[in-house]
Amino acid sequence: MVDTRVTLSGLTLDNPVIPASGTFGYGYEFAELYDINILGSFSFKGTTREPRYGNPLPRIAECPAGMINSVGLQNPGIDAVISQELPRMREVFHKPVIANISGFSVEEYVECCAKIEKEDCVGLIEVNVSCPNVHNGGMSFGVSPESAALVTREVRRVTKKPIYIKLSPNVTDIVSIAAACEQAGADGISLINTLLGMRIDLRTRRPVIANKMGGFSGSAIFPVAVRMVYQVAEAVSVPVIGMGGVSSARDVIEMMLAGATAVQVGAANLVNPYACRDIINELPGVMESLGIHSLQEIIGGAH
Ligand code: SIN
Repeated sequence: MVDTRVTLSGLTLDNPVIPASGTFGYGYEFAELYDINILGSFSFKGTTREPRYGNPLPRIAECPAGMINSVGLQNPGIDAVISQELPRMREVFHKPVIANISGFSVEEYVECCAKIEKEDCVGLIEVNVSCPNVHNGGMSFGVSPESAALVTREVRRVTKKPIYIKLSPNVTDIVSIAAACEQAGADGISLINTLLGMRIDLRTRRPVIANKMGGFSGSAIFPVAVRMVYQVAEAVSVPVIGMGGVSSARDVIEMMLAGATAVQVGAANLVNPYACRDIINELPGVMESLGIHSLQEIIGGAH
């Protein structure tokens, strides 16, 4: 009998598998397919202060071993998430959920975190300073240690819940940004968000995506994610949630050996809505085949 439990900032998860924000809605959509209470947790769609329609269409471009999205933080806004989405979610998901918060100003991050602080169903806040699809917000807060630390410090003041800062790979030195967030009071680091990418339609000779560029995700980025998780885990002492191209139980174990305490699954959910269920079912057998008795013991094992 293997032990798949892991602990993130005092929160014990039955397993480390967490659907990534933006690929799992508010959970109830997937609850029609399987019992989502088998998940470790899930991170709900990136939420801003105001409702957002998102970017113009087309927003998606397919790629070999991945996809590009430029959704642009489409969401109903924090008040509607709290009054409409979370009650629906609570009917089908009975574990602490991860709230993914985005913003266009430090004040917006603070206001959203202060509101979500009051929600008992939220076990952890993932502060997204890494969305590549919006201007003057999202990723622009995550590209320097100073601005990432500023957001961290200010949201820290308004919540006692664990704060994990979600970082962008589109930077020169992700380690210095992670370290600055830790120093500013982050309880953990989530990485990586998507890599900025682009496709061009050969017939129209124009970008496929209306916003021209978008975030590239999927199994093609897995080695980049493993490298960055390894580097960040070596530099910080807070837990790391690893993500980027994870699509199998073997990928989960590799991420954990790189230093992740828990692992998010993103694009794979869009290819196969049962991806997380399949990974969770696969995990004990893969652990046995590799002689792993407890997942908690392998975290950072490659260092
Ligand atoms: C989006 O809504 O554009 C994606 C969110 C993200 O990449 O952080």
